[in-house]
Amino acid sequence: MLVAIGSAKGSPGVSTTARVLAGVWPSDVVLVDADPAGGDVSLLGRTASRGPLDPERGVLSLAADARRGLANDSLDDHLQQLEGGLDVLCGVTSPEQMTGIAPAVPALASALAHHPTRDVVVDCGRVQAGSPVMPVVAAADVLVLLARPRLESYAHLRERLRWLAQMRATSTRRMPALGVALLADSRDRRSLAELAQLLAHEGLPVTVVGQVAEDQRAADVVGGRLDRGVERSLLVRSVRQLVAPVSDLAASQGAVRAGI
Ligand SMILES: Nc1ncnc2c1ncn2[C@@H]1O[C@H](COP(=O)(O)OP(=O)(O)O)[C@@H](O)[C@H]1O
Ligand SMILES: [Mg+2]
Repeated sequence: MLVAIGSAKGSPGVSTTARVLAGVWPSDVVLVDADPAGGDVSLLGRTASRGPLDPERGVLSLAADARRGLANDSLDDHLQQLEGGLDVLCGVTSPEQMTGIAPAVPALASALAHHPTRDVVVDCGRVQAGSPVMPVVAAADVLVLLARPRLESYAHLRERLRWLAQMRATSTRRMPALGVALLADSRDRRSLAELAQLLAHEGLPVTVVGQVAEDQRAADVVGGRLDRGVERSLLVRSVRQLVAPVSDLAASQGAVRAGI
């Protein structure tokens, strides 16, 4: 199962959410940093021995291998393990590097989507026309866009969903099921319902999968800026609640693919 996380615009917390989602994912999983603007995992992550990660080993080295063709389990040779045990595929360090490997991205997308034994959570950064990682987005079973409860955030979200929905309707290929998660204060019980209503009113084929708690301290820990357990934080607990709706949505798309 390939789960893509992205944003319509801005920096709503995609990398943090993707990392926590992979961290709480109930089956064997890999976190892939495919943000075309340049990844954060290799900058912020640490190995079990608290050393830095190798930025050359990851998307870049997998893309180099792709020239010779990729087997479905090729990903495994390019992973590094974060402190705590999560396997990650580090991202590129600059947008120019991502542009440079663009020809290899379709093969990479296929390897991510067809891993024989593992699920993959991929940080796609900003999802927009012209993004070099669109083949990865298109190969996903589900794409979850993250938004904050702000008027401009909703406006960009709606535009991006319209574009994706149109692509879904006209494409001859299978496209991911569309989901939205709201990053908001956990005491805010209204915004999620309002957002769901707004999207339903637009008639967009999108499922609101839930709310990610705004929790700066936990986000700082996930980003490597503070050393502290986050297991019981609002952030981790809220992201755990996303697992079932996100995997259900992905599975529904799998059923469409299989013609069930
Ligand atoms: N759940 C959260 N609560 C509070 N702050 C968050 C949360 N997730 C991310 N942030 C903060 O928002 C900023 C952007 O986060 P990041 O995950 O890098 O977003 P993106 O990948 O969308 O650019 C960072 O300063 C991060 O600490
Ligand atoms: Mg990011």
